[in-house]
Amino acid sequence: MQFSPACERNKLPILQLLRDWLPANARVLEVGSGSGQHAVFFCQQLAGLQWQPSDRADYLLGLAERIALEGQAGLAPGANLAAPLELDVDRAEQWPRQRYQAVFSANTTHIMAAASVPQLLAGAAAVLETGGLLLLYGPFHDGDQPTAATNAAFDAHLRSLDPTMGVRDALAIRSQALSHGLVPVADVAMPANNRTLIFRRVDGVAAGLVAGLPAGSF
Ligand SMILES: C[S@@+](CC[C@H](N)C(=O)[O-])C[C@H]1O[C@@H](n2cnc3c(N)ncnc32)[C@H](O)[C@@H]1O
Repeated sequence: MQFSPACERNKLPILQLLRDWLPANARVLEVGSGSGQHAVFFCQQLAGLQWQPSDRADYLLGLAERIALEGQAGLAPGANLAAPLELDVDRAEQWPRQRYQAVFSANTTHIMAAASVPQLLAGAAAVLETGGLLLLYGPFHDGDQPTAATNAAFDAHLRSLDPTMGVRDALAIRSQALSHGLVPVADVAMPANNRTLIFRRVDGVAAGLVAGLPAGSF
């Protein structure tokens, strides 16, 4: 099983954010669950939560192991943690056919290729119910300007490892999201210069109306 020290540091602030934003008994699809620590922790803390973890094939075995070991006992009342799905955002056929009230993804947009981020947005829009939320946690730049020295250094480190990785531009993500009917509703500052970008799925007609709005119009 994988273990992420970062998950241990950020899980409490993210939990507080989920308490503030998710509806009761929310049905949530998590994209890029990684070690599964977030999935287990949130289901231990939030009564009634219905959480669907997922990741690419490489991560699936370790993720499934954690969910099997830690995800069945000790959950909050009424919470359910499903066996993980294989989901690479670039593979349209892997997106579930089911609808969710929220899609959550932490620390994924800087790891996936830049070209995959619009696929994440399009897939999330397709599986969200009208009114549902997309929550993207992680470091982001604004207009390609680093919002903190630590994020600039992290970006350089990622690109030195693999030029397809890198901290993404929140303004570009908002603009791409709008084209899929995902309206930016909040940009929440999180510890260690991270943020959570929150979007709400609007219906087709409304999506057409909002598509022309400037990215920072929320
Ligand atoms: C740094 S890990 C974050 C894992 C976990 N969410 C966390 O916060 O600890 C990045 C995750 O993004 C996932 N990822 C990268 N590219 C992806 C893609 N194309 N589709 C789905 N997940 C992807 C990786 O498999 C990995 O689980």
